[in-house]
Amino acid sequence: MKKYLFLTGAGISAESGIRTFRDSGGLWEDHKVEDVASPLGFRKDPQKVWKFYKERYHQSLSVEPNPAHYALKKLEDHIGDRFHLITQNVDGLHIRAGSNRVLEMHGSLNRCFCSNCKARYQMQEIDLQADIPICNKCGSQLRPDIVWFGEIPYFLYEIEEHLKKCDVFVVIGTSGTVYPAAGFVMTAKLFGAHTIAINLDRPDNFSFIDEFHQGKSGELIPVYIERIMESG
Ligand code: OAD
Ligand code: ZN
Repeated sequence: MKKYLFLTGAGISAESGIRTFRDSGGLWEDHKVEDVASPLGFRKDPQKVWKFYKERYHQSLSVEPNPAHYALKKLEDHIGDRFHLITQNVDGLHIRAGSNRVLEMHGSLNRCFCSNCKARYQMQEIDLQADIPICNKCGSQLRPDIVWFGEIPYFLYEIEEHLKKCDVFVVIGTSGTVYPAAGFVMTAKLFGAHTIAINLDRPDNFSFIDEFHQGKSGELIPVYIERIMESG
Protein backbone atom coordinates (compact mmCIF):
# COMPACT_ATOMS: atom_id res chain seq x y z
CA MET A 1 0.00 0.00 0.00
CA LYS A 2 1.61 3.23 -1.18
CA LYS A 3 2.22 6.27 1.01
CA TYR A 4 1.43 9.60 -0.63
CA LEU A 5 3.00 12.92 0.28
CA PHE A 6 1.80 16.18 -1.27
CA LEU A 7 3.42 19.61 -1.33
CA THR A 8 1.26 22.55 -2.35
CA GLY A 9 2.08 26.15 -3.23
CA ALA A 10 0.29 29.33 -4.24
CA GLY A 11 -0.91 27.79 -7.54
CA ILE A 12 -3.44 25.53 -5.78
CA SER A 13 -5.22 28.60 -4.38
CA ALA A 14 -5.16 30.56 -7.66
CA GLU A 15 -8.53 29.19 -8.72
CA SER A 16 -9.97 30.30 -5.36
CA GLY A 17 -9.05 33.85 -6.34
CA ILE A 18 -5.77 34.38 -4.46
CA ARG A 19 -2.97 35.72 -6.64
CA THR A 20 0.24 33.69 -6.78
CA PHE A 21 3.60 35.33 -6.01
CA ARG A 22 4.92 34.77 -9.52
CA ASP A 23 2.06 36.45 -11.30
CA SER A 24 2.40 39.44 -8.99
CA GLY A 25 5.76 40.14 -10.66
CA GLY A 26 7.82 39.41 -7.55
CA LEU A 27 5.62 41.68 -5.45
CA TRP A 28 3.12 40.41 -2.95
CA GLU A 29 -0.19 42.17 -3.68
CA ASP A 30 1.79 45.25 -4.79
CA HIS A 31 4.12 45.28 -1.79
CA LYS A 32 7.85 44.66 -1.79
CA VAL A 33 8.40 41.26 -0.19
CA GLU A 34 11.17 42.57 2.11
CA ASP A 35 8.84 45.28 3.50
CA VAL A 36 6.06 42.91 4.51
CA ALA A 37 7.70 39.50 4.79
CA SER A 38 10.89 39.97 6.79
CA PRO A 39 11.69 40.53 10.48
CA LEU A 40 13.48 43.76 9.54
CA GLY A 41 10.41 45.05 7.68
CA PHE A 42 8.33 44.40 10.81
CA ARG A 43 10.82 46.18 13.07
CA LYS A 44 10.85 49.21 10.74
CA ASP A 45 7.11 49.56 10.31
CA PRO A 46 4.94 47.12 12.32
CA GLN A 47 1.79 49.11 11.56
CA LYS A 48 2.26 48.72 7.80
CA VAL A 49 3.02 45.01 8.17
CA TRP A 50 -0.08 44.48 10.31
CA LYS A 51 -2.27 46.40 7.83
CA PHE A 52 -0.99 44.12 5.08
CA TYR A 53 -1.65 40.84 6.98
CA LYS A 54 -5.08 42.00 8.20
CA GLU A 55 -5.98 42.50 4.53
CA ARG A 56 -4.59 39.08 3.60
CA TYR A 57 -6.48 37.49 6.51
CA HIS A 58 -9.80 39.08 5.50
CA GLN A 59 -9.17 38.15 1.86
CA SER A 60 -8.53 34.51 2.84
CA LEU A 61 -11.88 34.42 4.68
CA SER A 62 -13.69 35.91 1.69
CA VAL A 63 -12.65 33.10 -0.69
CA GLU A 64 -13.49 29.39 -0.71
CA PRO A 65 -11.44 26.22 -1.16
CA ASN A 66 -11.63 24.92 -4.74
CA PRO A 67 -12.01 21.39 -6.21
CA ALA A 68 -8.26 20.68 -5.77
CA HIS A 69 -8.41 21.33 -1.99
CA TYR A 70 -11.55 19.20 -1.68
CA ALA A 71 -10.08 16.36 -3.73
CA LEU A 72 -7.09 16.17 -1.36
CA LYS A 73 -9.45 16.01 1.61
CA LYS A 74 -11.36 13.20 -0.13
CA LEU A 75 -8.15 11.23 -0.66
CA GLU A 76 -7.20 11.66 3.00
CA ASP A 77 -10.61 10.31 4.06
CA HIS A 78 -10.01 7.34 1.78
CA ILE A 79 -6.39 6.36 2.61
CA GLY A 80 -6.00 7.86 6.11
CA ASP A 81 -2.48 7.65 7.47
CA ARG A 82 -0.99 6.89 4.07
CA PHE A 83 -1.73 10.56 3.23
CA HIS A 84 0.27 13.60 4.32
CA LEU A 85 0.21 17.15 3.06
CA ILE A 86 2.78 19.92 3.36
CA THR A 87 1.71 23.39 2.30
CA GLN A 88 3.68 26.56 1.74
CA ASN A 89 0.41 28.48 1.73
CA VAL A 90 -0.72 30.58 4.67
CA ASP A 91 -4.34 30.99 3.52
CA GLY A 92 -5.75 28.10 5.59
CA LEU A 93 -7.76 26.75 2.64
CA HIS A 94 -6.65 23.12 3.11
CA ILE A 95 -7.89 23.17 6.69
CA ARG A 96 -11.14 24.86 5.65
CA ALA A 97 -11.60 22.10 3.06
CA GLY A 98 -11.37 19.60 5.95
CA SER A 99 -7.83 18.23 5.60
CA ASN A 100 -6.34 17.08 8.92
CA ARG A 101 -2.87 15.79 8.13
CA VAL A 102 -1.56 19.19 7.02
CA LEU A 103 1.75 20.80 7.90
CA GLU A 104 1.56 24.57 7.31
CA MET A 105 5.32 25.05 6.98
CA HIS A 106 5.15 28.83 6.39
CA GLY A 107 2.64 29.52 9.19
CA SER A 108 -0.92 30.76 8.90
CA LEU A 109 -2.84 34.00 8.42
CA ASN A 110 -5.25 32.71 11.06
CA ARG A 111 -2.75 33.01 13.88
CA CYS A 112 -0.32 35.43 15.49
CA PHE A 113 2.04 35.37 18.46
CA CYS A 114 3.69 37.71 20.93
CA SER A 115 7.07 39.00 19.82
CA ASN A 116 8.18 38.96 23.49
CA CYS A 117 6.58 36.13 25.52
CA LYS A 118 5.60 34.02 22.45
CA ALA A 119 1.99 33.56 23.65
CA ARG A 120 -0.06 32.33 20.70
CA TYR A 121 -3.44 33.67 19.55
CA GLN A 122 -6.03 32.95 16.89
CA MET A 123 -6.83 36.06 14.83
CA GLN A 124 -10.48 35.90 16.02
CA GLU A 125 -9.29 36.33 19.61
CA ILE A 126 -7.46 39.63 19.15
CA ASP A 127 -8.49 43.24 18.53
CA LEU A 128 -7.95 43.70 14.81
CA GLN A 129 -9.10 47.33 15.08
CA ALA A 130 -5.81 48.16 16.81
CA ASP A 131 -3.08 49.43 14.46
CA ILE A 132 -0.64 47.06 16.18
CA PRO A 133 -2.40 44.37 18.25
CA ILE A 134 -0.97 43.90 21.74
CA CYS A 135 -0.40 40.76 23.84
CA ASN A 136 -2.84 40.70 26.75
CA LYS A 137 -0.39 38.69 28.86
CA CYS A 138 2.66 40.98 28.67
CA GLY A 139 1.64 44.10 26.70
CA SER A 140 4.18 43.63 23.88
CA GLN A 141 3.48 43.77 20.16
CA LEU A 142 1.91 40.74 18.52
CA ARG A 143 3.15 39.64 15.11
CA PRO A 144 1.55 37.50 12.39
CA ASP A 145 2.45 33.80 12.60
CA ILE A 146 4.03 33.81 9.16
CA VAL A 147 7.51 32.41 8.46
CA TRP A 148 9.25 35.42 6.97
CA PHE A 149 12.35 35.48 4.80
CA GLY A 150 15.37 34.68 6.96
CA GLU A 151 13.28 32.59 9.39
CA ILE A 152 13.20 28.82 9.69
CA PRO A 153 10.09 27.05 8.36
CA TYR A 154 8.02 24.94 10.73
CA PHE A 155 7.94 21.12 10.90
CA LEU A 156 11.23 20.52 9.07
CA TYR A 157 11.95 17.40 11.13
CA GLU A 158 8.50 15.84 10.46
CA ILE A 159 8.73 16.85 6.81
CA GLU A 160 12.07 15.10 6.39
CA GLU A 161 10.66 11.93 7.94
CA HIS A 162 7.72 12.01 5.52
CA LEU A 163 10.03 12.68 2.55
CA LYS A 164 12.09 9.62 3.45
CA LYS A 165 9.09 7.33 3.90
CA CYS A 166 6.77 8.31 1.05
CA ASP A 167 6.41 6.21 -2.11
CA VAL A 168 4.87 8.97 -4.20
CA PHE A 169 5.64 12.69 -3.79
CA VAL A 170 3.28 15.05 -5.60
CA VAL A 171 4.10 18.74 -5.98
CA ILE A 172 1.19 21.01 -6.88
CA GLY A 173 1.13 24.70 -7.87
CA THR A 174 4.58 25.70 -6.75
CA SER A 175 7.32 27.34 -8.80
CA GLY A 176 10.12 25.39 -7.09
CA THR A 177 12.12 28.55 -6.40
CA VAL A 178 11.89 29.11 -2.64
CA TYR A 179 14.06 26.89 -0.43
CA PRO A 180 13.97 24.70 1.56
CA ALA A 181 10.61 23.61 0.03
CA ALA A 182 12.06 23.66 -3.49
CA GLY A 183 14.60 21.00 -2.41
CA PHE A 184 12.04 18.51 -1.03
CA VAL A 185 11.54 16.87 -4.42
CA MET A 186 15.25 16.07 -4.58
CA THR A 187 15.23 14.51 -1.10
CA ALA A 188 12.14 12.43 -1.86
CA LYS A 189 13.67 11.21 -5.10
CA LEU A 190 16.99 10.33 -3.46
CA PHE A 191 15.07 8.22 -0.94
CA GLY A 192 13.30 6.37 -3.73
CA ALA A 193 9.96 8.11 -4.22
CA HIS A 194 8.27 8.53 -7.56
CA THR A 195 7.98 12.32 -8.07
CA ILE A 196 5.09 14.04 -9.82
CA ALA A 197 4.44 17.73 -10.54
CA ILE A 198 1.05 19.16 -11.41
CA ASN A 199 1.51 22.77 -12.41
CA LEU A 200 0.60 25.43 -14.94
CA ASP A 201 4.25 25.93 -15.96
CA ARG A 202 7.38 23.83 -15.62
CA PRO A 203 8.70 24.29 -12.07
CA ASP A 204 12.33 25.40 -11.67
CA ASN A 205 13.27 22.05 -10.03
CA PHE A 206 11.94 20.17 -13.05
CA SER A 207 15.02 17.91 -13.36
CA PHE A 208 13.95 15.97 -10.23
CA ILE A 209 10.41 15.36 -11.52
CA ASP A 210 9.61 11.90 -12.94
CA GLU A 211 6.16 12.78 -14.23
CA PHE A 212 4.84 16.22 -15.19
CA HIS A 213 1.18 17.11 -15.76
CA GLN A 214 0.71 20.58 -17.12
CA GLY A 215 -2.53 22.42 -16.39
CA LYS A 216 -4.76 23.88 -13.72
CA SER A 217 -4.82 22.07 -10.40
CA GLY A 218 -8.58 22.59 -9.95
CA GLU A 219 -9.10 20.53 -13.09
CA LEU A 220 -6.25 17.99 -12.91
CA ILE A 221 -6.15 17.13 -9.18
CA PRO A 222 -9.71 15.76 -8.86
CA VAL A 223 -9.06 13.45 -11.85
CA TYR A 224 -5.67 12.34 -10.52
CA ILE A 225 -7.13 11.64 -7.06
CA GLU A 226 -9.97 9.54 -8.49
CA ARG A 227 -7.31 7.47 -10.24
CA ILE A 228 -5.39 6.91 -6.99
CA MET A 229 -8.58 5.90 -5.18
CA GLU A 230 -9.43 3.38 -7.86
CA SER A 231 -5.95 1.83 -7.85
CA GLY A 232 -5.44 2.02 -4.05
P1 OAD B 1 4.74 30.97 -6.84
O1 OAD B 1 3.84 32.13 -7.10
O2 OAD B 1 6.22 31.20 -6.88
O3 OAD B 1 4.41 29.83 -7.91
C1 OAD B 1 3.09 29.45 -8.19
C2 OAD B 1 3.14 28.34 -9.22
O4 OAD B 1 1.81 27.89 -9.42
C3 OAD B 1 3.69 28.76 -10.58
O5 OAD B 1 4.65 27.80 -11.01
C4 OAD B 1 2.46 28.75 -11.51
O6 OAD B 1 2.76 28.31 -12.82
C5 OAD B 1 1.57 27.73 -10.81
N1 OAD B 1 0.12 27.96 -11.00
C6 OAD B 1 -0.56 29.12 -11.12
N2 OAD B 1 -1.87 28.91 -11.23
C7 OAD B 1 -2.04 27.56 -11.19
C8 OAD B 1 -3.17 26.69 -11.25
N3 OAD B 1 -4.40 27.16 -11.39
N4 OAD B 1 -2.96 25.35 -11.17
C9 OAD B 1 -1.70 24.86 -11.04
N5 OAD B 1 -0.60 25.62 -10.98
C10 OAD B 1 -0.76 26.95 -11.05
O7 OAD B 1 4.27 30.35 -5.44
P2 OAD B 1 5.01 29.32 -4.47
O8 OAD B 1 5.87 28.37 -5.22
O9 OAD B 1 3.97 28.78 -3.56
O10 OAD B 1 6.86 32.14 1.01
O11 OAD B 1 5.92 30.30 -3.63
C11 OAD B 1 6.72 29.74 -2.63
C12 OAD B 1 6.90 30.70 -1.49
O12 OAD B 1 7.42 31.94 -1.97
C13 OAD B 1 5.63 31.09 -0.77
O13 OAD B 1 5.21 30.16 0.19
C14 OAD B 1 6.00 32.38 -0.13
C15 OAD B 1 6.76 33.02 -1.28
O14 OAD B 1 7.65 33.97 -0.95
C16 OAD B 1 6.54 32.70 2.19
O15 OAD B 1 5.54 33.35 2.39
C17 OAD B 1 7.52 32.41 3.27
ZN1 ZN C 1 3.33 38.53 25.41
